[in-house]
Amino acid sequence: MIQLNEILSKNEFTKEEIIYLLSLEGPEKTALFEKSSAVKLATIGNKVYYRGLIELSNVCSKDCLYCGIRNSNENVHRYNITDEEVLEVSKFAWDNKYGSIALQSGELRSPAFTKRITNLLKKIKEMSNGELGVTISLGEQDEATYQEWFDAGAHRYLLRIEVSNPALYYKYHPGDHSYEERLECLRALKRIGYQTGTGVMVGLPFQTLDDLADDLLFMKDMDVHMVGMGPFVEHHDTPLYKYSNLLLPKEERFTLTLKMIAILRLMMPDINMVAATAMQAIDPLGREKAIKVGANILMPNITPGKYRDDYKLYENKPCTDDAAEDCKNCLEARVHIAGHEVGYGEWGDSKHFGK
Ligand code: 5AD
Ligand code: FES
Repeated sequence: MIQLNEILSKNEFTKEEIIYLLSLEGPEKTALFEKSSAVKLATIGNKVYYRGLIELSNVCSKDCLYCGIRNSNENVHRYNITDEEVLEVSKFAWDNKYGSIALQSGELRSPAFTKRITNLLKKIKEMSNGELGVTISLGEQDEATYQEWFDAGAHRYLLRIEVSNPALYYKYHPGDHSYEERLECLRALKRIGYQTGTGVMVGLPFQTLDDLADDLLFMKDMDVHMVGMGPFVEHHDTPLYKYSNLLLPKEERFTLTLKMIAILRLMMPDINMVAATAMQAIDPLGREKAIKVGANILMPNITPGKYRDDYKLYENKPCTDDAAEDCKNCLEARVHIAGHEVGYGEWGDSKHFGK
């Protein structure tokens, strides 16, 4: 405990110290979670902010080996939400005082797609007198596109690096994926002035504690404003599925993710961190637990019900049968269980932004 208390009193860790923290069990693990919880409450308080998640389309040009909606998966029924539907659910978010929405989709790059998003962004801003915050998560694009969307009203962008170790990155992203290009996208987003978010999956096959420690140092080094980390959840229609025997048990992937969130909260006390939906795919109280140890953002799914089942990045995805109204009530109860409050009607910007 002496060694642990000494480490926990710092906010800069060496890689060895991070690996040590990731390995904690029992009362020492509890001490880590108590510390990260206290640091969060002292730095950013007990508010949890909503980003109503709209899964625009599951059409994707990429072929990430872990992802259920990868281009080569022919067992996916592909969909595209209409603009009217997007506006309708955005209005739901606005009417219900969600501070922000998040538009997410498989990766598409074309002038028509760029234009469609630009128009949508303008309409959403118009509908809400410019007040509804808009996060977008639309993959790798060129800088001009990012700039066009920023000018149209988007102010936050999520682009997970997925794994920061380039060798592992290429293992999961063969073909024409480029690690360097992804990094360049993150740099461009920051240059333009987006609140920029990245993140990783935890518990992938072949990933080690060493890699995870590097992931945390990567996020600190990139000085991002927002982070989303979730456990890897295998999907039977993906090439990675055949390595399922190499995986940690689901519960361990879950706990490891909690530790990642807790340690990053100590390293970057004022960033926004999401309690990822994938946490709940493993543990029914997964998102509450993530909030307790350091997360402060929830992304209630407001995708129209008829599409939800088709946006399956991983198996056992929760809430695919629920209506947005049910999710709202359910999530609010969950936030209260975790001893927190929902920040209704507020953007809930990353306090790290602009520093
Ligand atoms: N398990 C967990 N998370 C996944 N993602 C994609 N596939 C999986 C999976 N099988 C995550 C990626 C992506 C985010 C939208 O979902 O990290 O960035
Ligand atoms: Fe969607 Fe609970 S969060 S139903």
